[in-house]
Amino acid sequence: MSKTIKKIGVLTSGGDSPGMNAAIRSVVRTCAFHNVECIGIYRGYQGMIEGDFKELGPRSVNNIVNKGGTVLKSARSKEFMTVEGRQKAHKHLTDYNIDALVVIGGDGTFTGAEIFNNEFGFPVMGIPGTIDNDIFGTSHTLGYDTALNTVVEAIDKIRDTASSHNRLFFVEVMGRDAGHIALNAGIGAGAEEILIPEEDLGLDRLLESLQKSKASGKSSSIVVIAEGDKIGKNVFELKDYVEANLPEYDVRVSVLGHMQRGGSPSCFDRVLASRLGVKAVESLLEGKSNFMVGLLCDKVNLTPLEQAIKGSSEIDMELLRVSDIMST
Ligand code: F6P
Repeated sequence: MSKTIKKIGVLTSGGDSPGMNAAIRSVVRTCAFHNVECIGIYRGYQGMIEGDFKELGPRSVNNIVNKGGTVLKSARSKEFMTVEGRQKAHKHLTDYNIDALVVIGGDGTFTGAEIFNNEFGFPVMGIPGTIDNDIFGTSHTLGYDTALNTVVEAIDKIRDTASSHNRLFFVEVMGRDAGHIALNAGIGAGAEEILIPEEDLGLDRLLESLQKSKASGKSSSIVVIAEGDKIGKNVFELKDYVEANLPEYDVRVSVLGHMQRGGSPSCFDRVLASRLGVKAVESLLEGKSNFMVGLLCDKVNLTPLEQAIKGSSEIDMELLRVSDIMST
């Protein structure tokens, strides 16, 4: 292990996700294991600009492996997008003798880390934390598995009331630019149709499918819609459209919103967070920098940050076919 890194800073940035605390814990304890000091940076890059730092020892992360959110808090810092902001942040890091950074977040977080590394040659390592699962170089981001379970549980409850009243429900789930949550939770919860940002199924197809399902004897239905779906109508406009064209349907809308980002992380997310935290710290100690740690074929691996940012995490189109068959 390299002798040069004696102190590592850790932060969470962007939208929070379940498992971030487990990742913080892992980073802190891996540092302690290797006799490296660890500094928690509060409120993401904004806290780095303001010098909002606190030393974290292995006991300071007791009892957080099971907690949702992030004890370090999160922010989307506009100031860090400016050179002046990043210079202030760099000065605080050097004043504190911090030698390297672990950043936990999504592509915005990684973009900030990459720019910072390019400007100051500062060693950085990314851990993917977002419920959207939209990062190239990892099959799973922290929080995605938990969010899927949260969504499925919510739709199961909606199904109870939908079937009692013979209603059609449009359930909007998160995923501004990515349909992973909609597609997988939709299949898991038995949705009739799934609308995602990656594929324009079209309004005609939606109406056809709903007509077919009524004709086949279904009395209630669930349609799952990603917030950034390609049809481009918001979920309330879709409801109006369907009611205008298929008056036999009594439609209700349920927007799940930020509850999808909360809650205790699943076992999968806790284990993933623990593995990625160890790899992030040990990679920095080995002298590596500017990578994201991720999971591919159940192996922890490194992807250059630039690729993680620029590459796209493809939707498995076979899942759409599976969904179609399941809704027969
Ligand atoms: O990126 C995670 C995410 O939860 C997206 O799915 C969602 O579109 C966005 O964050 C919401 O952001 P905010 O919490 O700033 O409203």
